[in-house]
Amino acid sequence: MISLLLFIAFVSYIFYEMYWKRRAYPPGPIPLPLAGNMISFGLSEPPGYEIFDRWRKEYGPIYTYWMGPFPLVVIADYSLIKSTIIKDGEKYADRFITDMTPLYRGGEYGVVESSGDNWREMRRFTLHTLRDFGMGKNLMEEKVMSEVRALLDRTSQKEVSPQWEIDIAVGSIINNVLFGYRFDEDKQSQFRELKELLGEHMKTVTTLSAGLAFTLPWTRSFPFVREAKDKIFYIRDRLFSFFRQQIDAKRQTIDYDSEENEDLVECFLKEQKKHENEPDNGFYSSKQLVNLLLDLWVAGMETTSNTLTWGIAYILNNKEVQKRIHSELDSVIKSDRLITLADKNHLPYLNATINEIQRMANLLPTNLFRKTTEEVQVMGYKIPKGTGICPQIATVLYDEKLFPSPLSFKPERFLNDDGSLKKVEELVPFSIGKRQCPGEGLARMELFLFLANIFQRFELSSTSLPSIKKSFGFTVQCSPYKCEFKERR
Ligand code: HEM
Repeated sequence: MISLLLFIAFVSYIFYEMYWKRRAYPPGPIPLPLAGNMISFGLSEPPGYEIFDRWRKEYGPIYTYWMGPFPLVVIADYSLIKSTIIKDGEKYADRFITDMTPLYRGGEYGVVESSGDNWREMRRFTLHTLRDFGMGKNLMEEKVMSEVRALLDRTSQKEVSPQWEIDIAVGSIINNVLFGYRFDEDKQSQFRELKELLGEHMKTVTTLSAGLAFTLPWTRSFPFVREAKDKIFYIRDRLFSFFRQQIDAKRQTIDYDSEENEDLVECFLKEQKKHENEPDNGFYSSKQLVNLLLDLWVAGMETTSNTLTWGIAYILNNKEVQKRIHSELDSVIKSDRLITLADKNHLPYLNATINEIQRMANLLPTNLFRKTTEEVQVMGYKIPKGTGICPQIATVLYDEKLFPSPLSFKPERFLNDDGSLKKVEELVPFSIGKRQCPGEGLARMELFLFLANIFQRFELSSTSLPSIKKSFGFTVQCSPYKCEFKERR
């Protein structure tokens, strides 16, 4: 009798896991009990595009996969993304998180992983602050140009690792925007240490152990899951302690009466003072600040610096592209002066190359997950409020219908017949909708100013061509390579 009951319970459980809980969602791969489809990622070809592409071919432009007990709905077609996530932006504005996120952050703080009023206020503050640096004296372009000049001087006539040189430059820009100082010679060991921590964090969060820690709380006592969780929290503590040191130093020197702001921490502390009589400083608490700094420091560094390193790798692998960039620079600029943003609209081939670098680098194999703020209807499916949902931009950027021969590096696909720059709305590396990247303006400025000035001054070459094979990671990183920066004049 007991064995019959156990058998019925087992069959009912399997029926529930494999059919019943899935019946209302768009179809997708069959989830295993408990782990869902997490194991499929470990078995798929790195860095993960392939499995999303396979699922789209098998299940269509919208499908569901399961991370442990959570259904995640993927929208993998540009026009469907447009008619949902752009058209009804507010319905897809929240961020999907698990119970681990508030544990990690000490509450609902920051911009990347928060929702509702907290997210709205932090996003507004971030956009406002970044925009203010870009206006008036054009402080932002000055900050970027001073790192461009330093990189050109460091690399001239040398064979170097572009990743490291670009990391220091991009790291210095975001550090300067946030805290008002750069990583010069005597601060480079501090930067190396922080960068290594960040690299470890990026690697750990994409492991199966971390996936289990995030989605199945009861697995957190298993030794390998606990180890991953402890590592993630240890790195958080180290980064938070670095941010707190910077905030304390700023508190010693800040002039609350001055209208000028040197960096984002200064802007935040002034807001904090304005709200000092409100509970939790009206969103401007010190916990909020360390979490916001974590978001901007991480998002502002890895993405841009990995894109630039991929960019040089693709150009080294496509010699005719470097020749065409040089010939455009020579015919338009006609001298060896530095290139500024004022030159941007006159260099269509370079801009097309940057577009193609972003498309090919395809930095996030899976985009961040949003959460529906109310029930939505997509292609006849009723998706409940609170479901995780993802505009899968990596699949769009490699969609062969939109970008024929998607794995070939062809800047010409972004040019019109008359040589002018073609506007291609499906090129969405910064994502779309209400959660579109708020650092886009800064990132675009960096990509243009670094690449334009590197090729204006140097001819790049390498004895062995850099590998363009990608490995797993939250943002895909290039394998290490070296190249020579030879003066052109
Ligand atoms: C080439 C460089 C970059 C790329 C490709 C990139 C891409 C992205 C993508 C795909 C998202 C996810 C959007 C979504 O949820 O659908 C995102 C979000 C975000 N990015 Fe970027 N990003 C870049 C540079 C930057 C920079 C320089 C900063 C900061 C200064 C930044 C800050 C952020 C933040 C704060 C979010 C979260 C926005 C929110 O949840 O409201 N990013 N980015």
